[in-house]
Amino acid sequence: MNTILITGGCGFIGSNFIRYAFNQHDDWHIVNVDRLTYAGNPENLKDIESDARYTFIHGDICDKKLIGSVYREHKITGVINFAAESHVDRSIMDATVFFETNVKGTMVLLDAARQFGIERFLQISTDEVYGELGETGYFTEKSPLKPNSPYAASKASADLLVNTYYRTYSLPVLIVRSSNNYGPYQYPEKMIPLMIIRAMEGKQLPVYGDGTNVRDWLYVGDNCRAIDIIFKDGITGEVYNVGGSMEITNINLVKKLLDILGKPESLISFVTDRPGHDRRYALDISKINEELKWESIGSFDNKLRETVQWYKDNAPWWKNVLNKNDYQDYYKKMYSKRKEEVR
Ligand code: NAD
Ligand code: TYD
Repeated sequence: MNTILITGGCGFIGSNFIRYAFNQHDDWHIVNVDRLTYAGNPENLKDIESDARYTFIHGDICDKKLIGSVYREHKITGVINFAAESHVDRSIMDATVFFETNVKGTMVLLDAARQFGIERFLQISTDEVYGELGETGYFTEKSPLKPNSPYAASKASADLLVNTYYRTYSLPVLIVRSSNNYGPYQYPEKMIPLMIIRAMEGKQLPVYGDGTNVRDWLYVGDNCRAIDIIFKDGITGEVYNVGGSMEITNINLVKKLLDILGKPESLISFVTDRPGHDRRYALDISKINEELKWESIGSFDNKLRETVQWYKDNAPWWKNVLNKNDYQDYYKKMYSKRKEEVR
């Protein structure tokens, strides 16, 4: 039996990964440590919370004592670190907690991994560590780190730290840098669920700037499969890019969502841009494709439709999130100062 510590397992990608891993690995026991911040939702794992192969611990990855006792008592053999503050706009409002969790928290997990002789430590990172691209080109794993937002800087800092634990202590680490994910259970501060839910409610859709920024979208199920493969077969000390090879401007994506939902484009509202807004992200994924035989499966349009359908079918899930003070306060604070701009 492998006992895998998953951190941040009640968030979007972590909860999808835990569900995926349970279907793949009968011999895994999963210990999920999650602080249950605004983004951590135990509802995301309702269907497996009583599984004998699952243990939930409500705790903070920055808590050295707790993390030490988790590694010791559960005889952890591998770690996958999803836990993070993950939203760029929030990091622009206040970076403090981003550096606490994303950097110090990662260090606490790495130190315990050294102490307890962990066999594999997988750091979940992001393509945002590379900064932005112009109209052409792709980031490879060798591209320099040039983060532009406090969020991206905190993730890049964590990546640098992870690399030093490989070089200095020979800790068996791996890093995954993925592009923007979409799919079920994503907290509706992120673009796709925010737009789907607001469109369903007939509310204005706040597109930043002129809407021509480009993102490369990766279905969360494809990412979970990639993470699983890298954790199993990746070479320690290496970085792997995981992208959806699906570049689209924000405005075209919003129009696609409106089309799927049968809602009018008059809902679109161009608003004040995000400060320092990265122009374009796009990943070269030839390394994972050639070395580990991973590729995304199925068409973007179908996976986007399935995602829209999931939010349509799971209104109690998102209504519950929207009704919390956290969400209401955040939305007011973030969007009230963004003025509508005529384009
Ligand atoms: P999320 O915000 O949905 O979830 C984060 C989870 O971490 C939550 O459950 C939260 O409670 C938990 N958490 C936060 N601080 C913690 C702490 N101090 N101790 C323990 N738990 C804590 O994030 P997500 O979108 O699922 O992202 C997961 C990981 O993937 C992050 O590391 C993020 O940087 C990375 N990533 C995300 C995307 C994306 O598109 N969402 C893309 C690339 C990389
Ligand atoms: P987001 O989901 O926040 O991911 P990231 O900033 O990590 O790429 O945003 C995706 C894109 O959508 C990004 O270019 C910003 C834009 N965006 C909007 O135009 N309006 C919104 O309300 C949000 C949340 C994002």
